[in-house]
Amino acid sequence: MKKVTSREDLNALKAQYRDSVLMRLLSYDSLNRTEVTVTMGECGLKNGAKDTLKALFNEVNDAKLDDVSVIAVVCGGNCAEEPIVQVIFPGKEPVTFKKVDTQKAKEIINQHVKGGKA
Ligand code: FES
Repeated sequence: MKKVTSREDLNALKAQYRDSVLMRLLSYDSLNRTEVTVTMGECGLKNGAKDTLKALFNEVNDAKLDDVSVIAVVCGGNCAEEPIVQVIFPGKEPVTFKKVDTQKAKEIINQHVKGGKA
């Protein structure tokens, strides 16, 4: 993956993935899955969101959580708290975690998602 070094790079990345993310979010399947989102805006990326995303993916894959999707989303609009992770269980309100580094990402999957409580 190309390294993001400018706002133009970020906008190009956003445009590249926007349609697939929207399709995923709007699909019927998404109504029955637990979703874990991580903000990948400029501030999120500066604060390690890419590593956070990788840690979330790895934990979900390692635990074989087939009913959990990890989704990169755009800017969360809360610069000081990025990266922000939300856990969304089907039919429930999202639970938000702020300043999520790799360690916290692992804890979120193991303590909250696996346990079925956010
Ligand atoms: S610019 Fe989007 S969170 Fe800072």
